[in-house]
Amino acid sequence: MSLLITDIGELTTNDPELGILRDAAIVVGERVEWVGPAAQAPAADERLDVRGAAVLPGFVDSHSHLVFAGDRAPEFAARMAGQPYTGGGIRTTVAATREASDERLRANVARLVGEALRQGTTTIEIKSGYGLSTLDEARSLRIAAEFTDEVTFLGAHVKPADSPDGYVDLVTGPMLAACAPYAGWVDVFCERGAFDVAESRRVLQAGIAAGLKPRIHANQLTMGGGVQLAVELDCASADHCTHLSDADVDALAGSNTVATLLPGAEFSTRAPYPDARRLLAAGATVALASDCNPGSSYTSSMPFCIALAVRDMLLTPTEAVWAATAGGARALRRPDLGHLGIGASADLIVLDAPSHLHLAYRPGVPLIRSVVRKGTLQSL
Ligand code: NIG
Ligand code: FE
Repeated sequence: MSLLITDIGELTTNDPELGILRDAAIVVGERVEWVGPAAQAPAADERLDVRGAAVLPGFVDSHSHLVFAGDRAPEFAARMAGQPYTGGGIRTTVAATREASDERLRANVARLVGEALRQGTTTIEIKSGYGLSTLDEARSLRIAAEFTDEVTFLGAHVKPADSPDGYVDLVTGPMLAACAPYAGWVDVFCERGAFDVAESRRVLQAGIAAGLKPRIHANQLTMGGGVQLAVELDCASADHCTHLSDADVDALAGSNTVATLLPGAEFSTRAPYPDARRLLAAGATVALASDCNPGSSYTSSMPFCIALAVRDMLLTPTEAVWAATAGGARALRRPDLGHLGIGASADLIVLDAPSHLHLAYRPGVPLIRSVVRKGTLQSL
């Protein structure tokens, strides 16, 4: 089955050769088959005339924590009244998650994945990290894998209050063995109060030995050694990057590690935003992701993250859209995603707007008119 989408006012392809096209059309099966001027479009089985709207790749949200129960609205309210974010509330969510049935966890993931899809997210990475026992981490990952191919084992989120001693041995031993079959990635929260650099290295190296690819929560609350560790281990991505030294910026710029910025977390914790311009000026690759979780960033909205990145991190709207699509794809090492070149996965969104600029220009407005995933129009 092929689908012709035509009368596209502005087509953002993220393809270096194609760039941004006006009065364009695209033909897709599961993958992109043809891109060019609307007047030259070939016939297809079905046709969608978008009447001058903007079309762009679906958002690739490369960082979320969707397997949890409960919420922490009072903690958010306390922060807005001046309390700092420490990560201490993670244990509140761990208690609620352990209590919850599989069905309840699954329903919550389904709700959030649905929310994200309606806001244009066509690929989402989902982490565990609110189980912190072998059983609860494994079931979190099993549930995550029902919703996405990009599943991340984050058993090393924090040390559980009930058994902190020997926790790294558990995460790198029996827990990893039980979890690795459900995951493609391993992650660690490298931070004061969570896991130090030596512990984080052990966690990631054990994951790599078990066949997982590494990524990391780095430099969120302090200027620790997380980013340097990310580069040392060739992590696909170093996430947060809120507090960076010059050496951290240089290390990222000289590496294959993407700097994934999570402005929803700074918004929701009143932390300073990361210096995206400094990273870009140095030559680092920057991605944007939601970090959707009940503590530091309870948003599933990539358009909201784009708006924050433009308003508060000084990305241009075009840079922010690239970071939320092609940047996310790089952070997941998925060359088939985040662009609309020939052969790419046919994941795209149609805006209720004439240009991608409107995503930041009209913050908070539901601009996603249609979503196509692997060539199929989604019901929203
Ligand atoms: O990426 N910082 C570590 N993990 C999450 C927050 C988790 C929580 O507060 O529940 C983050 O911000
Ligand atoms: Fe996170």
